[in-house]
Formats: sequence, structure tokens, C-alpha cells
Amino acid sequence: MKGGYDHYMQKEINEQPDSVLQTMRGRVKFDRQPKKRITLGGLVDRISTIRSGRRVMFVACGTSYHACLACRQTMEELAELPVSLELASDLLDRRAPIFRDDMCVFVSQSGETADTLKALEYAKERGALCIGVTNTVGSAIARSTHCGVHINAGCEIGVASTKAYTSQMVALTMMALALSEDSIRLRPKRNSIIDALGVLPDQIREVLKLDAEMLSLAEQLKEEQSLLVFGRGYNYATALEAALKVKEVALMHSEGILAGEMKHGPLALVDELLPIIVIATRDRMYQKMLSVVQQLLARGARLIILCNSGDSDMQEICASGGSRLIQVPETVESLQPIINIVPLQLLSYHLTVLRGFNVDQPRNLAKSVTVS
Ligand code: M6R
Repeated sequence: MKGGYDHYMQKEINEQPDSVLQTMRGRVKFDRQPKKRITLGGLVDRISTIRSGRRVMFVACGTSYHACLACRQTMEELAELPVSLELASDLLDRRAPIFRDDMCVFVSQSGETADTLKALEYAKERGALCIGVTNTVGSAIARSTHCGVHINAGCEIGVASTKAYTSQMVALTMMALALSEDSIRLRPKRNSIIDALGVLPDQIREVLKLDAEMLSLAEQLKEEQSLLVFGRGYNYATALEAALKVKEVALMHSEGILAGEMKHGPLALVDELLPIIVIATRDRMYQKMLSVVQQLLARGARLIILCNSGDSDMQEICASGGSRLIQVPETVESLQPIINIVPLQLLSYHLTVLRGFNVDQPRNLAKSVTVS
């Protein structure tokens, strides 16, 4: 069942080259003739309705929420619609306004999460178009939504969501691409994302080779009380998701921090002892992240910098001090979070094993949260 792996989480992390491919299979036309296109069978009849909507509202919990956060900017830039994000429980607590011309996207691996399901009923009562993005055919959310996309990541057994997360990001990116198909202005951007999707499985395969390096990093961090993860832009979601993985399975306190908020509080925590992961791959935020790195180093911080392979600035920083680098392949900025999370999943896996905790069944947690 575990296919030679010790744990389901480990197996599912390693399955990602294939699971993201399954998410794209039959849906992405990579060649240019007549044009690159995305066909999402469950949405084809709804594309023009979604395009004419007032806004796209993503609703989810936990890791699924992070997938929505990672794809928000892609959706804003390609669909050219306002995009809001809601944690399902918070939407319900606030009884937030939802309108008939809202396009609500409910993202859930299991398709059974109680809060997401309740939020779906709430949105339906208000007349919104409800779209499901799930990994479970026939699940409650798949059945109750008006239309949707299956992510086809294959069964995920480990409580910690890993391959579903990367497939959710691929599915949401495909949705944004499908919504922008008619735009001539956006064609170069769409084409570059579609090309990058084509090589994504191989790039994930490449990142998985960092396993031994992540084990050695986990050896170094296993006795720590706390771990901070800084990110911004597309990779704020990566910071939150990495921290969630570390706290959920390795039972270590961890916080994902929006780097833009650093000076508004978190900087007070920085000293020579607290390990900090900084996600600084090359995107529009790179210069700002470089400055974050320099400011953290000026305060003596102990850094682990996740950057693109061959980044000479980061290599220089590393050579001149005690920082450690995690180097990953480069892709278009909207897909970089998919690559970036993989070594951090491996790190949380190894931390859990080394700390002696239950990897697949963390204490107090269930795979599907079917009660609020
Ligand atoms: O099945 P769902 O995607 O709706 O589950 C939502 C969360 O409960 C889930 O993502 C949870 O945060 C994961 N266990 C995190 O790894």
C-alpha cells in the first residue's frame, strides 16, 4: 500500500510529479496550433457566466485555503476580476454578504469538510454560482455545487495534505487560464504559464532529489522550539503552508509571516537562536526579499534561504555567514509556489520522523473535518 515508503505522507510527497500530471491530463493543449488551450469539462458551459460575474470568491479551510491564496494573484491577473478569499468558518461567523452575481469557488481535498459545505449551502441560498474543486468524486461538495473541477490527484491518506495541495494549485491555475482564453493581450503570459505547466512534473522530480539535504536540515532543526517562515507575494501562501505542515505533523511551533509585515511586530522575535526560513525565489518580490534577508542578517538571524538554483546573490550571502541555502529550479512566478513547497514538505516529514511523532495520523487531527 505504501509502495516501499515508510509512511503515506512520504509516498504522497514523492507522487507529486505524477499527481500534477494527472491533474492536467486531457485538459491542457500544449502545442501552439491553432492555440494553446485549457479545457475543463466541468466548466466549459459556465466560462462566460463566470467571466461576467461581479467577483470570484474562494472559500476553503486549512491547506486548501492556502492553495486559493497562492492562486489569487493569477486569478486576478488572468480573469481580470476582483478575487476575495474566505476561510469557510470565518465567512459563516460573519455571515458575510454574498450576491447572485458572485462566483464562489469551494476548494476541498475531501469534499466533505463541514465548514466548507455549510458555506456552500449559505452561498447557494443567496443565489451565487457555486463551483467545486475537490479530489473526491461523489463527495458532498462535488454533488452540491453547480459545476466544478476534479483535481484527480489520487487518494490522499496522510492527514497532512501534500499532493492535493500542489494539484489544487494546478487546477486553480488552469481555471484562471480557461477564463482568459479570449484575451489577445494576455496570450504571451498564458502561453508562458502553459509551457511551464508542461515541464512542471520534471521540475518537481528534480526538487525531490533534495530529500537527503532536507533530512540533514531536519537533523539540524529537530530540537528547536520554533521555526518562522517568511514569504510575500505568490509565496506568502508557501510560508503559511510550510508552517502549517511543520506544526501539524512535527508538532513544532511554526508561523508563516508575510515579509511585508516584518517591521510591524515579527522583527522583535529575531535573534541568533531562532531559525528562520526565507522564501526568496526570483519573482517580482525578489529585490524586496533580498532586502528582508539583509535586514534579518543585520540582526544576527539564523537563516535558511529558499532560492532559485544558481542565485549568485544568495550564494554570496551564504558564503559570508552561517546561512543555509535550499536551491530549487526556476519556473514562471505563478507556478513557483508549487516547486517551493516540495522541499518544505520533505523538511516537515523528516522533522516528524526525527522527533518521533506519528506522521500519518498526527495527534488530535482527522483527515476529514466533518463537524464544525
Ligand atoms: O479536505 P479539505 O481540503 O477541505 O480539508 C481542509 C483542511 O482540514 C485540511 O487542508 C488540513 O488543513 C490539512 N490536514 C492540512 O495538511
